[in-house]
This record gives sequence, C-alpha cells and structure tokens, in this order.
Amino acid sequence: MDSRQDLAVILASRVPIVIVETHDEARFLELITDVVARGKPADYRRLFRWTVTEGLQRLDVALEPQLHNAPPDQVLRHIRSVKEPAVYVLLDFHPYLNDPVNVRLLKDIAVAAREHRRTLVLVSHALDLPAELQPLSACLTLSLPNEDQRRDIVSGVARDWAEQHPGRVKANPEALELLIRNLSGLDRDGVERLARAAIHDDGAITASDLPEVTKAKYELLNRGGLLSFEYDLAHFADVGGLTKLKDWLEQRRKVLAEPPPGLDPPRGLLLAGVQGCGKSLAARATAGVLGRPLLRLDFAVLYDKYHGETERRLREALQQAELMAPCVLWIDEIEKGLATGDSDSGTSRRVLGSFLTWLAEQQGGVFVVATANEVGRLPPELVRKGRFDELFFVDLPDTLTRGKILEIHVKRRDMDAKSFDLQQLAQASEGFSGAELEQAVVAGWYAAHAAGDSLDTGHLLAEFLRTRPLSVVMSERVAALRAWADGRCVPAA
Ligand SMILES: Nc1ncnc2c1ncn2[C@@H]1O[C@H](COP(=O)(O)OP(=O)(O)OP(=O)(O)O)[C@@H](O)[C@H]1O
Ligand SMILES: [Mg+2]
Repeated sequence: MDSRQDLAVILASRVPIVIVETHDEARFLELITDVVARGKPADYRRLFRWTVTEGLQRLDVALEPQLHNAPPDQVLRHIRSVKEPAVYVLLDFHPYLNDPVNVRLLKDIAVAAREHRRTLVLVSHALDLPAELQPLSACLTLSLPNEDQRRDIVSGVARDWAEQHPGRVKANPEALELLIRNLSGLDRDGVERLARAAIHDDGAITASDLPEVTKAKYELLNRGGLLSFEYDLAHFADVGGLTKLKDWLEQRRKVLAEPPPGLDPPRGLLLAGVQGCGKSLAARATAGVLGRPLLRLDFAVLYDKYHGETERRLREALQQAELMAPCVLWIDEIEKGLATGDSDSGTSRRVLGSFLTWLAEQQGGVFVVATANEVGRLPPELVRKGRFDELFFVDLPDTLTRGKILEIHVKRRDMDAKSFDLQQLAQASEGFSGAELEQAVVAGWYAAHAAGDSLDTGHLLAEFLRTRPLSVVMSERVAALRAWADGRCVPAA
C-alpha cells in the first residue's frame, strides 16, 4: 500500500491519535507536509511539529518555534486549549508516556478531538501506547521503498560521492542490479546507509560489495530473531557427487534469478538421507550456487527456547526471511520441529500448519532447503507431493563419488591429489559416508605428521581399516531410510 494514501485516509478518518514507528523521521515529515498541503481547501488544517528541544513549530508555513511549549506536559495543555483544527506531529514523545499526567492529557485531547478536528501523530522509532489510549489510536506503517525508489536512492548516493571526489562511481551493471535487489526490505534510511557503505570505500559498486551489504542488512533487520546468518557458503566444487541435485538446481538457477511472469517459481526442496553424506553441505552449496545469502532457522531452538510462543516466533522468522529475500532459508533437521508428537498439546500441528501455509503462499523470494535425518518422524503432510518442489534422497556415496570426496578433502588441506591412488582408496572405503572419508583424511594426516611423514595412500588405507563405518554400525537404519525414500524421493546422486 502507498503510505501517502494511507496517511491521507487516516487523517481524514479523524482517529485522534496516530502512531508511526519509523527511523525515518525526515521522510515522514516530508510526507505529512505534502499530504496536508494537498488536502481539500475546505478541510485545511494547520500542521505543527513538536520536539522537546525546539518546542512547537508550524510546518505548513515558516514560523519560528515556540520554545515556551517545549516541556511535554505544557505542549499537551496548549494543544488541549486550542480550538482550531490542526495536526500535531510529536517527535520522540515515547519517554513521556510513562507520566500519568501526560497520559491523562492525551486522553483529554483525544476525547475532544472529534469536536475540534485535532489529530496527534506520535512518531518514534518504537512506541508502546498505554492501554487506555489504544482504542483512540491507529498505527500507520510506512511502506518501504520499491525497486525504482531504491534505484533512485542509490543514484543519489553515487551523485553525492561524485561531488566530493574526482570522477564518477564505477558500477558494474550486474552488481548494481543485485545491490538494488538486495536492499529490499529496508526503509529509506537503511537503503541509503548501506548504499553509502558500499560506495564510499572505493567509489565503485562491484560484486565484492554484496556480501558486506547483505550482512549489514541482516544486522539491521535481525532484532534478536531466530534466524542466523550463515557466512560460510559452499560451492558445487566442494561437494562430491549429488549430481542430480546439482543439475536440478542449475536448471532452476535462471528462473530463480528472474522468474518469468506466469510461472510459479521454485519454492524449495527437501534433502533426506543418511547421516554425514552432505545434506548440510548441499544446503550451503545451494546458497552459493544461487548467489543468495543463507539464513538458517533452527527448529529445535524454536521449540526449546520459546516454549509457548512457538508459532509467533516462527511467523516472525518467516517474515524476516521474506524481508531478506532473495535468500535461501535453510531449515536443518526439520523433523525436530515438525515431528508429529501428541505430547505438546497440538503445538507442532499448528506450527506445521503455519509453515505449510507460508510455504505455499510465499512468492519465491525465499528458497527453502530443508534437511532431515529421521524421516520416520516427518509428518506425511510435509512430504506429500506439491509441498516442496522436489524431495531428494542423499545416500551413501558410490565408488566414483568416494574418490571425488577424498580428492576434495586432500586438496582442501593443500596436498596434491595426484600423489594418492584415489581409485584404490575409493574401492577400499565401501560404505563410508562423506563425513567419515573426511575424518579419515584428518586422522591420517595427524598420524603421518606424528611419524614425520606426509600423508599418503597407505596412511589412508590404515585409517579405513580402523573405522567401522556407519553403514555397518547402523545398517538397519540405513536400510529403513532407503525403504522410506523409495517411491517418495528422487536420488540426489
Ligand atoms: N558429498 C560430499 N562431498 C564433500 N564432502 C562431504 C560430502 N558429504 C559429506 N562431506 C563432508 O562431511 C561433512 C559433514 O557432512 P554434512 O554435515 O553435510 O552431512 P549431513 O548429511 O548434513 O549430516 P548430518 O545428518 O549429520 O547432519 C561435510 O562438512 C563435508 O566436509
Ligand atoms: Mg546436517
């Protein structure tokens, strides 16, 4: 909704107290001055601004501030005594709402407002109106700048920079568009602040600015929420195997970047499978591949820490993810939150309901990657066709993939993969998970190091012999997982 129109409607409705929570006071004053000026001449009302330092001052015509009206109770007494129609914008009045005298005065003004056509507009960054005043008030939410407005703000910041420095801001067109897109969800002030941070360090907008901007945006938006921002993204090159998953994502990458009109954008996928085979890694890689920030939502914390307010917390977290869009929302171990337990008096049912509704309705700005180990605890509604775009099953790696995973992990530790007999190693590690292969590389390296050697094929073979892989220790679980996945999931590899 357009804030201008909302404000005009609220002022015309003659609600006596209007609450505006914003950090962008200057913009609000501009807006209300404009709305009042454009009103019908017959309805004209004078417009005042009050601050505790300057007192009361006309905004619709240039007049000096009335300093004698600076104390909060004094200005309210003054307003109460005035009979002419007027709009009073009180900036940062929130600390004075603790005083019962002020509350009473506000109530007096509000009750008589209908007669005298007076509106009080309280503008603060955050404002808790006392309960007795709530029925006399309405809240106005300022709309956030849209894409064109954000482009204008960024251009304005670039112009400012150019005025103070020789030359123009160098902007990589693709990075500029991404920057404008990533600044969504912020108010004008936030957009301007982050654009300035991106431009002012080097007079350029490049891809390297984007991670910083996203991080700063997350910090601006995250007010003690449930989401955590994951800095550590992965790339497909870090993931051995899982080729079907990679192809699937690659095919959707373009659509996700710019959804063609009329096509439902992909909303998300579920990765179920054997422990330690790369589900979490694949979730990180998804964000890396899509070039989006990764937010992690911890369902276990949602339940444990916020007992009794689980649903509200979930709604807030999902809303926040939408503000961070485009992003990847990673819900690790989703079964922990949504398991169908009877013991929690229906909370998990309701949470599941809220989550599914949101998943179906959100417009594709948030791409969800959910991961699950204990598939038996997943509620059937969640895995029914059409909820997620695809359900992938991540199984133990095959021989070829084991070779790739070993290669990835020796290379990561700055060793030359060619000095290992990867084929022999792959064959000798039947039944090992990716995590176990990585563990063998780490343990082997320590053993070699202790003996004054560098890691070689022999050390790794020795590590394999020492390991009883999960596929053996938990063979029944793995078999049950595979049985569950059969017919429900497509293989990720
Ligand atoms: N396919 C793979 N390619 C490369 N490394 C892998 C692969 N699978 C697992 N690993 C290594 O093992 C580590 C653990 O894997 P990850 O946490 O992704 O598994 P998971 O399936 O999420 O396990 P869990 O069920 O325990 O959460 C990874 O950080 C990575 O280093
Ligand atoms: Mg995991």
